[in-house]
Amino acid sequence: MKKTYNIAIDGPAGAGKSTIARRVAGELGFIYVDTGAMYRAMALCFLRMGADLKDQELVGEQCGKIKVDIRYADGVQQVLLNGENVTDQLRAEEVGNAASTISAYPAVRAALLELQRNLAASSNVIMDGRDIGTLVLPDADCKIYLTASTRVRAVRRYKELEAKGEIRSLEEIEKDIIDRDNRDMNRDTAPLRQAEDAVYLDASAMTIDQVVERIKDLAAERGLEV
Ligand code: DC
Repeated sequence: MKKTYNIAIDGPAGAGKSTIARRVAGELGFIYVDTGAMYRAMALCFLRMGADLKDQELVGEQCGKIKVDIRYADGVQQVLLNGENVTDQLRAEEVGNAASTISAYPAVRAALLELQRNLAASSNVIMDGRDIGTLVLPDADCKIYLTASTRVRAVRRYKELEAKGEIRSLEEIEKDIIDRDNRDMNRDTAPLRQAEDAVYLDASAMTIDQVVERIKDLAAERGLEV
């Protein structure tokens, strides 16, 4: 079987990974795998149960019984939670924070690892997350660490919320981002960090188009034939 080509994108929340990865996938004819959505689906399940997310033992015990699956509809990732399509319910702030908490537990990460690796083995993928280049796909053909300053990320989030009619102070949003970064970077299991062979891209002063072009160039330099 022909080996698939895999692009790994890691970086903190709000750096633009999903927007960029979706665009690159569309232009290269790759599948975009949003691993954050898998953690969010798992988190949604625990929120629905009313579980204490700080109870690592309980979450660890239950997560093996939860079935998260991925389907594609017109190239768009759909996340199934125990067979139910929950894609539209995953972006809420509460779900993201819950995902950040439970994703620190080894049992939760182990429960999602095989799904992530199987997707990468069966298709050309661009996969984004926190530990893709370091742990999930250590042999990925092209690895990117995409980041932006906390202020730039906070301003983007502010505008997203504003467009939905939600007004929150910029300072509060920036504080949430800093807290989330700290949790994701300082946990014992699979902390967010740049893989040694990943290219560091600070997108604070770059447009989406510039980042997309840069990643396509990097992939071409790393053996992708287009
Ligand atoms: O990228 P996101 O905001 O959808 O991710 C939600 C949370 O899930 C994030 O705070 C950290 C966690 N996550 C992770 O630990 N590993 C991944 N590969 C993807 C997300």
